[in-house]
Amino acid sequence: MSKLKNLNEEQKAQLIVEKKVALAKYREHLKELALHQKKENKKRKKRHREISKLIKNDRANQKNYKKEFLEVKKESLKNIDERIKKINEWYDGVDKTKSVEKHYNKLIKKAKQPTFDFDGDIVFENVSYTYSKGSPFEFRALDGTDITIKKGKITAVIGMTGSGKSTLIQLTNGLMISETGRTIIGNYSLYAATKKIKEVKDLRREIGLVFQFPEYQLFQDTIEKDISFGPINLGAEKEATLKRVPELLRMVDLPEDYAKRSPFDLSGGQKRRVAIAGIVAMDGDTLVLDEPTGGLDPQGEEDFMKLFYNLNREKNKRIIIVTHNMDHVLQIADEVIVMHKGRVISVGNPFEIFSNFELLRTIEIEPPKLYKLAYKLKEKGIDITKHNFRTVEQLATAIKAAKERK
Ligand SMILES: Nc1ncnc2c1ncn2[C@@H]1O[C@H](COP(=O)(O)OP(=O)(O)OP(=O)(O)O)[C@@H](O)[C@H]1O
Ligand SMILES: [Mg+2]
Repeated sequence: MSKLKNLNEEQKAQLIVEKKVALAKYREHLKELALHQKKENKKRKKRHREISKLIKNDRANQKNYKKEFLEVKKESLKNIDERIKKINEWYDGVDKTKSVEKHYNKLIKKAKQPTFDFDGDIVFENVSYTYSKGSPFEFRALDGTDITIKKGKITAVIGMTGSGKSTLIQLTNGLMISETGRTIIGNYSLYAATKKIKEVKDLRREIGLVFQFPEYQLFQDTIEKDISFGPINLGAEKEATLKRVPELLRMVDLPEDYAKRSPFDLSGGQKRRVAIAGIVAMDGDTLVLDEPTGGLDPQGEEDFMKLFYNLNREKNKRIIIVTHNMDHVLQIADEVIVMHKGRVISVGNPFEIFSNFELLRTIEIEPPKLYKLAYKLKEKGIDITKHNFRTVEQLATAIKAAKERK
């Protein structure tokens, strides 16, 4: 007010006009905002209807998937008598002490349950997943994806942040179930209409998953208990499992005397090591690792890549690794799955993927260092991008060959 007092009539009038203009602009802005929100809401509702329709249209397939799965289950129950006979033969003449009896009963119980082969290819058929369905935050993270992750191979899943990598891999061990289609793991099937995963223990034992943020995975009061929790919970002998802890600690490069320490006092990288040891302890056929080397120093990263590689080549474990580190992908992957906006947009060996510059540009991912060099050389007239190389030595050989060709 005091300011206004000092103004002459003309200035006052000018100020009032300016205020009116500002108010009109603000109202216009609010109107635009409301219009934008309305449009967004309309789009969201349309998308929601589309998703609901896709799910509804898939219901007929679900019936068939269920039927097929029940057939496999039935088939696996055919040889129950034979399995029981074998166990009885094994225990014939053995003194039935209390602990033997306990073990025997456990085996008989298991023999009566269906068995599955989780080792075969993992096939995603039209899998999709929507977070916070029906809410304003609804987000379709997987959008009708088809892809096969082969048995016994190292497969890397790459793509920009938010492309659906973590969502996809969590379908492999039933942490999530897709809302359409199915995930086939060997001869086991998780179809969208699955209500309860009865074989969840077998599935989790065979397909061990290390989360992107493994700190959420550790919850016991000692590291030893954390590492052995998975196997014991899934039916392994307690004593035998605890005995393996020092070896597992060594494997992930942690001192053996850490066994009795609390996992909560560890650094991020060390927690990751414990989580990985816990998954290796389960001794399943598949290890699924979501950004396993976050928080580790370069040497630690390198060591883990070697460990995963050796587990694959020496113990025939299937490794599925989500990573943003393309050097690691080039170093160890047999196959690369490229995700973009909830879909798989490309799949191939690392050489096919990294020599495809357009693809890398689409997913906004920088090539591995060796390929960066190769692209630079290409600009200078030496094209080795179609050669296959994983190491500096192989790259040098490719350059030599390219120069000799010239
Ligand atoms: N719990 C959730 N609630 C809502 N949206 C989610 C949730 N989890 C993931 N999303 C969304 O789904 C999309 C895919 O997420 P996802 O975690 O699979 O991506 P990502 O490829 O693993 O990404 P990053 O490389 O960052 O780990 C992202 O846009 C993400 O924001
Ligand atoms: Mg992720």
